[in-house]
Amino acid sequence: MQQNAPASADGATRIGPDKIRNADPARPLVCLTAYTAPVAAYLDPICDLLLVGDSLGMVIYGMDGTVGVTLDMMIAHGRAVTRRARHACVVVDLPAGTYEDGPEQALASARRVMAETGAEAVKLEGGVAIEASIAALVTDGIPVLGHIGLLPQQAENGFRIQGRGEDGARQVMEDALAVERAGAFATVIEGTLEPVARSITEALSIPTIGIGASAACDGQILVTDDLVGLYDGHLPKFAERYADLAGTIREAAQRWADDVRTRAFPGQDNIYAGTPATKE
Ligand code: KIV
Repeated sequence: MQQNAPASADGATRIGPDKIRNADPARPLVCLTAYTAPVAAYLDPICDLLLVGDSLGMVIYGMDGTVGVTLDMMIAHGRAVTRRARHACVVVDLPAGTYEDGPEQALASARRVMAETGAEAVKLEGGVAIEASIAALVTDGIPVLGHIGLLPQQAENGFRIQGRGEDGARQVMEDALAVERAGAFATVIEGTLEPVARSITEALSIPTIGIGASAACDGQILVTDDLVGLYDGHLPKFAERYADLAGTIREAAQRWADDVRTRAFPGQDNIYAGTPATKE
């Protein structure tokens, strides 16, 4: 188990970005998304890193993609997660439209997220195109988790696996090197061919966290709602369902509905019995 960092602003001793950066490569990093306080509490002791991902647009809010998620939404969910996370490093996504204009916009957004959520770091999508913004945040003391390969914020026409062909492979590698050069403490690689993810992992000194980028990465991340069978949208090939919470919810609701309709609920244990006070 990794050592904890000094207490965060909220008094928790969560893993700091430097511990993630210097993680033992022999021990893959375990990372999941969390958007709410109770789920953060369940996952926190198990994970090295909890990501408040802008995937919440789809899995919580029923949006078609991540575009349209606002900074206020990310801050509200980020704060919910930091309230209950005591161990794992908490990272909050900067949503589309809040950093692409350049370092000034990225700084304003990231400073708000850090101040209002108490998270350890922010995540931005992109490589070469946002190198200056990542560098500005790091210089300002804001730790950054990179995100290269498939970039959902730019995938209006569907999710395409990255790293195909010489040019495709070179582009993802250049993005990886830019993210490292800018000072990110680790980077997510999403939806990228296995050999390309492997070469990047070998080339970088910071850890790579894969999602659809093979076991060659230094760690893995999944959307928790995919993992536990709570999201009813498309399950990508790279995800794996380890539970069926949707089925559990439906079954519990159906049993309760049946009990209500037959007046088996509420039972004696669920009511406040007693004698009403008599008026003098
Ligand atoms: O928003 C998200 O959940 C993510 C992960 C899929 C890496 O960025």
